[in-house]
Formats: sequence, C-alpha cells, structure tokens
Amino acid sequence: MSIFQLDGPTRLKGTVFISGSKNSALPILFASLLANDSVTLYNVPKIKDVEIAVKIITNFGARITLKEQHISIETSSIKDFYVPHGLSKSIRASILALSPLIARFGKGRIFFPGGCQIGKRPIDLHIDGLKKMGVIIEIKRDELIAYLKKKLTGAEIFMRTTSVGATISILIAAVTAIGKTVIKNAACEPEIVDTANFLNSIGAKITGAGTDEIKIEGVEILKGGKYRISSDRIETGTFLVAASISKGSITCRNTNPSLLGDVILKLRQTGANVQTGKDWIKLDTHGKRPRAVSFVTSPYPGFPTDMQAQFTLLNLIAIGKSVITETIFENRFMHVSELVRMGANAFIERNQVFCCGVKRLIGKNVSCNDLRGSVSLVLAGCIADGRTNVRNIHHIDRGYENIEIKLRSVGAKIKRIS
Ligand code: UD1
Repeated sequence: MSIFQLDGPTRLKGTVFISGSKNSALPILFASLLANDSVTLYNVPKIKDVEIAVKIITNFGARITLKEQHISIETSSIKDFYVPHGLSKSIRASILALSPLIARFGKGRIFFPGGCQIGKRPIDLHIDGLKKMGVIIEIKRDELIAYLKKKLTGAEIFMRTTSVGATISILIAAVTAIGKTVIKNAACEPEIVDTANFLNSIGAKITGAGTDEIKIEGVEILKGGKYRISSDRIETGTFLVAASISKGSITCRNTNPSLLGDVILKLRQTGANVQTGKDWIKLDTHGKRPRAVSFVTSPYPGFPTDMQAQFTLLNLIAIGKSVITETIFENRFMHVSELVRMGANAFIERNQVFCCGVKRLIGKNVSCNDLRGSVSLVLAGCIADGRTNVRNIHHIDRGYENIEIKLRSVGAKIKRIS
C-alpha cells in the first residue's frame, strides 16, 4: 500500500494543467457502447476509475485502443453483457454500464455498485426509470438481471430526487428507444451536458441537457465519431483551494471558469483575488490567510458536494467561524476527525460542521475512506508543520491524475512511498 509523505508548510505557487473530467469521462465511456462505429475520446483523465471503466468495457468483448492522447472503442465484437462482482464493486459508476447494454443488446447483468462510502447511495431511481421504459429487472440478492421482452420505449420520467447518475442512465437508455422520453427534475450538472453533447455528436437527438427537463427523441442508430471530454471542474477547484490555504497563488489552465460559478464566488468571499480568462483561472491570496465562508452543498448550479471536503479544510485554517451544511450525502465528513487530529477545531452535528479557524495544523499520520476527503488531507499535509503521511491513497488515484507531480510543480514537498 503506497502512502503520500508530505513535508510542510509550503506556499503553493505556479501553474497547473487541468485534466479531463472524471465524471464526464465515465458516462461517456459507457455511452460509447451505443455507437455502431468506432468512437475516439480525447482528454480522458489517466485515473483509476477510468482504468476500471475500460476493464468493464473490455470484459464485454469491445476492442479498446489506449494511446497517450486518446482512447478508441470499437463495439462490434461485444459478446458478454455482464459486469463481474469485483468490477461492479470497484466503482459507483459501474451502474452506468447497465443502460447501454440494455439499449444496444437488450440485456445486462450487474451487481449493486460500490464506490466511495459517503452515504447509502441507492440506485432505485435508475431502476424505476428503466422499468418505466419497459425494462424487466430482477434482483437476486446482490445482482441485477435486466432484459427486454418488448422494445425499449420512451417515457415521461419524473426524478423524485435530483440524481446525476440516474439522469445519465435514463438519458443513455432513451437515445435509441422508440419515441420520445422526457426526464423531469433532471440533474443539471455540466457532466450531463458533456454526455449529451457527445451523444448528439454521434447522432442522438437530445435537447434541454443542463436544464431540469431533458427531451430525447429516439433514433434508430448511432454512428461513431471523435469527442473531446471537458476539463475537470472539481480538480480545478481543488487546486484553487490549495492556493488559498497555503497563502499562495495558482493558475489553473485548460479549464472552464463558467463551470465553477459558486466555487469562484466563495473563493472571492475568502478575500482572494480570483481572475478568469477563457480557459484559465488564477487565484492569488497576496500572502493573506483566507476568511471563513459558510456554505450549503446542493445540486448544480449550487455549491458542489465534491468540493465540500476541500472547503472544510479551508474553513478550518481560515480567519473566523463558519458552518458547512452537506445536503447531498449522509456520511461525507470522514475527513473532519482526521483534520481535528492535525489540530483543527471543529465539531459535527447531524449534516453540519461547525468550524473555528486555527492558524496552523500539525503533521500526523492520517487516512480517509473517500476520494475528496482524502485529497483534503493531502492539501492539509502541504500546509501543516512537519511531516504528514496520508494512507489509503488509492482513493485519490481513483480521481486525480498525477496529483503528486502537479502538486510538486507548484512547490509541494510530496513523495509517493510504496
Ligand atoms: C455523482 C458524481 C459524484 C457526485 C454526485 C453528486 C459521478 C461518477 N459521480 O454521483 O462525484 O458527488 O454525483 O453531485 O458522476 N439517489 C437516490 N437514488 C438513486 C440515485 C441517487 O436516492 O437511485 C440519491 C443519493 O443517495 C444522493 C443523491 O441522490 O443523496 C445524489 O446522488 P447522485 O447525483 O445520484 O450521485 P452519483 O451519480 O452517484
């Protein structure tokens, strides 16, 4: 098991090139299974979750070509419609393999998905939506067996809760279904827009992605094509927080400021100078400690739950007091107790963290069980006095490409130790 060893405190300064979005790459890889010709995807992040998605698709029998700059997927040789137990449990997004299998081949088998243990994370909305479109789903213990008796048919589907994953499942299923599908109370996240743009580029007829009502006119066949995945807004936000907490200055390039509205707003409220251009964002603290900012996580365009852990750290070393309210997942404060061990002053009550900023953190041996919580510990290690060892870093490798190389390039003293 590798660990990250960090020596601090360091002030982080420089430029970071942002990778492609994890949460776009995963659904787009699975949506590629709908294409009848070869699909080539650019700007796919080199992260563990993508590796697992590629394994799932290869396991179906698809031919995948991995090159430095792109991934190509060719589906004509698919002969298996089954995601094995280990792969289903490896990533939450494995559930997104189900609807393309049903849409293209009329059947699919998968186990209940795994992923970060940040809450109950049910899949009822995926199942209910697919059932409304005519899919028969049998659940045998931990396994879902899905098949069609008649053709997949468009339907009007109201999402009881706003769900990114369920919106994507239904969107993918609807693209080649008979007739029209309307998803009401759809999630509006940019990764849904990215997935819809990709599908439209290979022949789908989707309108309204990015709003809470998405309409899909079923088409008979999808061709192949080339598509560039958008930049990762959460990786961008993570590096901006790194600059903020270290009293530094970081420019993120190859990114899209328009996707980070609420995050930039909050960073400006900390007192940092945040400038944006077409594809870059620069945060400069001018050597000042951030001011605390309270926030509530909510679906896009609200403050992203995937930035909550990093902003919790920010508040724990900021000037003043703040309250953080998590409304999306029930168990997403696992990083807080580790940060308290490093000298932070916080307490949790139900879905809120009450923070009282301290001037410095102290290096410790820490670990966390989810991706964003773990990255917040790495950032804490950059600014803490002395040595911090972060364990369980496989969580970070799931979602951040070359994080130690990028952090070193802005001055962090970080080593991966095997
Ligand atoms: C996606 C993102 C994840 C992000 C989350 C919220 C990917 C690969 N992951 O996860 O990084 O943190 O959106 O922005 O894109 N829910 C149900 N029933 C369902 C599905 C979800 O009740 O069938 C609930 C969940 O428990 C949660 C809420 O809906 O409380 C939102 O979850 P959802 O948007 O589905 O998250 P994911 O798609 O898993």
